[in-house]
Amino acid sequence: MASGQETPAGPDLRAGIATGDLPDGKMMAGHVDGEAVLLAHRGHEWFAIGAACSHYSGPLPEGLMVGDTVRCPWHHACFNLRTGQPVRPPALNDLPSWDVEVRDGIVRVGAKRKPFPPPTRRSKGPESVLIVGGGAAGNSAAETLRREGFEGPITIVDPDPDAPYDRPNLSKDYLAGNAPEEWIPLHPPEFYREKGIELRRGPRVTSLDPRGRRVRLEDGTELSYGALLLATGASPVRLAAEMESSPLRVHYLRSLADSRRIAGAAREGGRAVVLGASFIGLEVTASLRARKMEVHVVAPAARPLERVLGPELGDMVRQIHQEQGVVFHLGRKASGVGGGRVTLDDGQALPADLLVAGIGVRPNLELAEGAGLATDRGLLVNEWLETSAPGVFAAGDIARWPDPHTGDRIRVEHWVVAQRQGQAAARAILGQGTRFDAVPFFWSQHYTLSINYDGHAERWDRIEIDGDVAAKDCRVRYVRGGKVLAVATVGRDRASLEAEAALETASSG
Ligand SMILES: Cc1cc2nc3c(=O)[nH]c(=O)nc-3n(C[C@H](O)[C@H](O)[C@H](O)COP(=O)(O)OP(=O)(O)OC[C@H]3O[C@@H](n4cnc5c(N)ncnc54)[C@H](O)[C@@H]3O)c2cc1C
Ligand code: FES
Repeated sequence: MASGQETPAGPDLRAGIATGDLPDGKMMAGHVDGEAVLLAHRGHEWFAIGAACSHYSGPLPEGLMVGDTVRCPWHHACFNLRTGQPVRPPALNDLPSWDVEVRDGIVRVGAKRKPFPPPTRRSKGPESVLIVGGGAAGNSAAETLRREGFEGPITIVDPDPDAPYDRPNLSKDYLAGNAPEEWIPLHPPEFYREKGIELRRGPRVTSLDPRGRRVRLEDGTELSYGALLLATGASPVRLAAEMESSPLRVHYLRSLADSRRIAGAAREGGRAVVLGASFIGLEVTASLRARKMEVHVVAPAARPLERVLGPELGDMVRQIHQEQGVVFHLGRKASGVGGGRVTLDDGQALPADLLVAGIGVRPNLELAEGAGLATDRGLLVNEWLETSAPGVFAAGDIARWPDPHTGDRIRVEHWVVAQRQGQAAARAILGQGTRFDAVPFFWSQHYTLSINYDGHAERWDRIEIDGDVAAKDCRVRYVRGGKVLAVATVGRDRASLEAEAALETASSG
């Protein structure tokens, strides 16, 4: 409840409802003492937890119940219905939970429970865990180690003075000016102090000695470790040096500092050129339109995002942006930058006050390559996310893992996958690991429209569309050899959750 004055949707669950009003396997929204509550019924059990997801407040009653968990319709976080604790990212924080009582055919939500205490079990594990990179994967691994009861030292090393933070927001609401900077850190600094997670921000790790179980930092410091997680992420692909040396600064977007700089350079009524119709390029485009800049997008492909989403959704994405006044120059590349303009390969010159390049990323593999770890367009890991060096694990944008759903070794650049891999690697480090078999998931936001994507399809021989792409209400399936590899949805969040669950079952069956 934003203002504290509106009553949340649904009945007063303190007063109760008839048990027959909520059939087995169903969930509903209600409220208790002014708080929005999700009531769930599973067999002879009833559960009550907070109704707003602890990620971005997604409506959990509209989500999917799977066993004794609920999945959020917006970005697929998963919570334990018994405790309110997050089971799967992107949610990191617990939800409140309440006692539930059933008597005389009435189910009533009772007292709010105290927050769950830290685990009392102690996990054995290595002497210490060192995490290189405090992004999605590194942060998630550190949190999971503590949630699993690991008591040894945990250190995260990262050169970024702001890490760890909500990277996906940097191209969306934060850049559009709709999210204040205090929303961007994943946790306040005291969180890490309380959990005993040391954040060493400043010098980067420059070399790794897997035999001696040591790393060296830029400032010469050496750190030893019991187990190591490499989670160094990716860096933007840069333009040719002669374009970068032009007086018109080329902006890239990976860090909070980058996003601050782009926001600082954006001027209402000014002209921006975005190179690359990638997810990041187009999200930047939408955010600059929100800041009332005129935006031109230049990209070599015939349609935006066609390689990932196919022609139909590619056209839809282009249309959404055109409706917002964006001008596309497709099938074109920049051939020069300078004098307040960007020159295209057909000779056209686009005046520009701001230039942003979103032309892809490359995994940061220098450390792994320098240490002789096995790589192949990514850092190779096994099902438990361990690299070719014992005791060295990898997660996130750098990791190429054996994906049981496609049967291929894949590497993806998705926030939720990086977080889930961080979680899995932490458990593997503690010897509690199971094979990493999560179905990849990502979302992308363009103005008010969100695209959700489950699975992974680098190639397909058929696209099946259910619904109406033009009406922005559809489910698109990418099929290879008769097998559904991936499902994208627009305006159908629940269908996206169902697709994720179906892909999980298809591969485990
Ligand atoms: C602007 C933007 C928007 C995005 N939006 C979405 C989205 O909507 N949905 C989605 O699914 N994905 C999105 N992504 C992708 C997603 O953010 C990444 O897939 C995810 O952050 C990868 O996590 P990671 O932990 O592997 O790497 P990162 O989160 O990049 O973290 C890597 C960290 O390692 C540090 N590091 C690098 N080298 C060293 C070193 N030598 N020593 C120490 N530290 C080092 C870096 O400083 C960095 O902090 C977006 C990415 C960007 C940049
Ligand atoms: S709002 Fe629930 S996962 Fe993002």
